[in-house]
Amino acid sequence: MLSNGPNWFVCFVFCLFVSCLLTFQRCLAKGDMAEVIAVNAGLALPPTMNGTLPIEEDVGVAPAAVSVPQTSEDYLFVEARHPSTVLQGLNSLRLNNAFCDVTLCCGGQEFPCHRIVLASFSSYFQAMFSTDLIESKQERVAINGVEPQMIGMLVSYAYTSEVYISKANVQALLAAANLLDVMAVREACCRFMERQMDEMNCVGIHCFAEAHSCKVLEKRSMEYILEHFGGVHKQEEFLSLCVDKLTEILASDFLNASKEEMVFEAAMLWLNKCPSRKQSFEKVLEHIRLPLISPYYLHDVIESLDVVKENPGCQKLISEAKDYLLLKDRRGELYCPRARPRRSTATAEVIVTVGGEDDKVVLRSVESFNPVTNQWKNLACLPFAVSKHGLVVSDSTLYLAGGEFPDGSASREMWRYDPCFDSWTEMAPMNVARSELGLVMLDGFVYAVGGWEGRSRLDSVECYNPHTNLWQFTESYKMAVTSPAVVALDGLLYVTGGAVLEDGDGTDLAQVYNPKSGGWTELAPMQIARSGSAACTLKGKIYVIGGWHASTENTDKVECYDPKTNQWTMCAPMKERRYRPGAAVVDGKIYVLGGEEGWDRYHDTIERYCEDTDTWEIVSEMTTSRSWLSCVSLQLRKDIHMGSCNGTPSDS
Ligand SMILES: *[C@@H]1O[C@H](CO)[C@@H](O)[C@H](O)[C@H]1NC(C)=O
Ligand SMILES: *[C@@H]1O[C@H](CO)[C@@H](O)[C@H](O)[C@H]1NC(C)=O
Repeated sequence: MLSNGPNWFVCFVFCLFVSCLLTFQRCLAKGDMAEVIAVNAGLALPPTMNGTLPIEEDVGVAPAAVSVPQTSEDYLFVEARHPSTVLQGLNSLRLNNAFCDVTLCCGGQEFPCHRIVLASFSSYFQAMFSTDLIESKQERVAINGVEPQMIGMLVSYAYTSEVYISKANVQALLAAANLLDVMAVREACCRFMERQMDEMNCVGIHCFAEAHSCKVLEKRSMEYILEHFGGVHKQEEFLSLCVDKLTEILASDFLNASKEEMVFEAAMLWLNKCPSRKQSFEKVLEHIRLPLISPYYLHDVIESLDVVKENPGCQKLISEAKDYLLLKDRRGELYCPRARPRRSTATAEVIVTVGGEDDKVVLRSVESFNPVTNQWKNLACLPFAVSKHGLVVSDSTLYLAGGEFPDGSASREMWRYDPCFDSWTEMAPMNVARSELGLVMLDGFVYAVGGWEGRSRLDSVECYNPHTNLWQFTESYKMAVTSPAVVALDGLLYVTGGAVLEDGDGTDLAQVYNPKSGGWTELAPMQIARSGSAACTLKGKIYVIGGWHASTENTDKVECYDPKTNQWTMCAPMKERRYRPGAAVVDGKIYVLGGEEGWDRYHDTIERYCEDTDTWEIVSEMTTSRSWLSCVSLQLRKDIHMGSCNGTPSDS
């Protein structure tokens, strides 16, 4: 992996010895080989010294004895050169084969040395010599599985604190240091490899680091691979990856690929390297985010490949991507992890919050929240302040209809937001003014259900066709209702709860409308009656969240409807009671934003629901406390972040 290059020199300060010097002094005194200056810890300091230790030379060696009484004229002498003198002494003993009590044998080569030195620098040897293992007594110890030259280098390192690391030896040296548990050399080898990393060798370095459990190097090399994927995927090392490592790379959100097509092309290069890989291609294709690929590329290039045609698993992935691309208004229902943009791409999945009111005023503001980065950005404000409105998304176009203006009048207006231009455009108005309406995007049409036109509740339903810019009444709801929770699922329109009676109490009624056959059908009622709840769909189920629980108070209760069984079940309650919060689903998790706790108490918190664990947690905050806002999730270009609103929030 690493080939010839300049020799790199790495030098270590070898402090470990200090701790065992005293032991050595006893041995050495007899042999008269080195002069030992005894450190007398019992000496006291003159009062004037006030505890300051006089150190003759301050080379970075910590004084060993610090707890010195501070009363006499004696002082602590520390010879900074001493450790290296001892080390040099030990090394010359070794080179002269004096006092050597063990010989390491490796690949036919022999390295005489001192047990005590080996044990002091390597826990491997310490364990070997201090137990009842046969080796603890043997004079010759065989070391297997490493290159003899590396044993030589490590032994020499033990006696000199120096070792040359080069591109040629770094792998073998690291392996040997790993075996003998010489951490400092191992770390130095890792740092050396990290410095040498490039597009050609990073994959090899990663696999090597993994094999030798060098966690930091393993992580850094993976980061390098992901970041430089554009170059790395053309290299020989990448093409010889095993399927598991390949999928680990392709699965990462951090893979730096401007377009998903490039990820696919990388997988094709890998596939074509070896015919037997065809069997595993489904496993690879699973991690390519096909829904983010152009439908034309999907059709012309990917679908026509034999390896895809012949494999039902690959076919399924293609059809999932096509559904996602084709059924734009069901994207929220099709929970599709493969549709999540990678971090490096120009788009991010965000929650857009529109209008509503804080504790003082009705708002014009339109903001986007990125749940991954927790960042808020301002989008173009509404042309007017509005609350109690409806908001839906189709592809990435937003439609806002109805609502209540700050003067209390109900709105007929319909506005469209185009993220490309970051601007709002007025479209055809509804037939009737509706505030507290239910608004839903169902298979290409916008439906407005019920609401308040100024004097009374409505049971009428109208439907907007974006292609003709026309509203038309459809079959009325069974009951006049305000603030119902509405969602679309599988081509059907669901309306649940809402305020219905004279006193505005909530209902537990749930009904479904089929636009193909026409007609409303009653479903099992909710477990609790409520109005002003948020609703969303996730993995084929409908969630109704919070709201006002009839005759009692705002609620934190959440229930879930399964159309297959026509049954409602309670989920874990939210952390907070929320009336009229906003809700949106991002990456398979429900986000609930703001809402009213009670009179005049508005939340600024965001809660997230994980359906797998049935748990809520507060994950972030909005820029203001807010209720009656509306939310949708969509994929937005990251560079859209226009200035904040001019003027006061409610200067409509
Ligand atoms: C000795 O050290 C103490 C605190 O460590 C200090 O308060 C005192 O002033 C020092 N005395 C002299 C003589 O430096
Ligand atoms: C991502 O890759 C492109 C080229 O493929 C490169 O120019 C860019 O610097 C990379 N980004 C990061 C964050 O490494």
